[in-house]
Amino acid sequence: MPSSITGQLALVRAEMDSRPPGLIHHVERVAAEALDLAAHWDLDPARVELAAWGHDLFRSFAPADQLRMARECGLALTPADEASPLVLHGPIAAAVLRARFAVTDDDVLAAVRDHTLGLGQMPLIAVVILLADKFERRKRERDPVMREIRRLARRDLNAALLCWADWKWVQERTHGWSSHPVHWQARTAWVRDHHFEAGLPGRVREEEFETARS
Ligand SMILES: [Fe+2]
Ligand SMILES: [Fe+2]
Repeated sequence: MPSSITGQLALVRAEMDSRPPGLIHHVERVAAEALDLAAHWDLDPARVELAAWGHDLFRSFAPADQLRMARECGLALTPADEASPLVLHGPIAAAVLRARFAVTDDDVLAAVRDHTLGLGQMPLIAVVILLADKFERRKRERDPVMREIRRLARRDLNAALLCWADWKWVQERTHGWSSHPVHWQARTAWVRDHHFEAGLPGRVREEEFETARS
């Protein structure tokens, strides 16, 4: 197994070759977007590219296969995961990248694992991959608000993350979809951090979030 990032990236790209062309093109757009952000925020492009190519390694797998693989990887499944197995493709990819592709970079693995739902504390690479995944060119064309979030990400990555979470919240409430508890926890932490940084009093209580969630 290669110990260099270049070798790991070559293996992951070769594995992606067997995936549907539409998914490969999405990953190419995410990698381009993430590398652009990496240059802006002075992040190591090789690590960012590895995370970008790994993030959707199992995105195209059927829900039943994702549940099976998650169990094989030893992931703890919640009722929310069982209801939407698609959210498991990041955690599965992170586990497989570590076990089969010898990826040991914790920030890269976190970026792959948490790119769908987010997490309260994320390394910069993970924030970059999550955002690039949401505002790659095709998604900006589909939803113009992503252009604004992309613009904001050049000024303040955490603010862009929070804006994306707000957009997601509106989408979920508009369509009557529930929020995944892991994402909601992350969102709650991002709001708290934002209030702390802005010097706002800690007025947001857990019950208010719980009410807003339903
Ligand atoms: Fe994904
Ligand atoms: Fe993706």
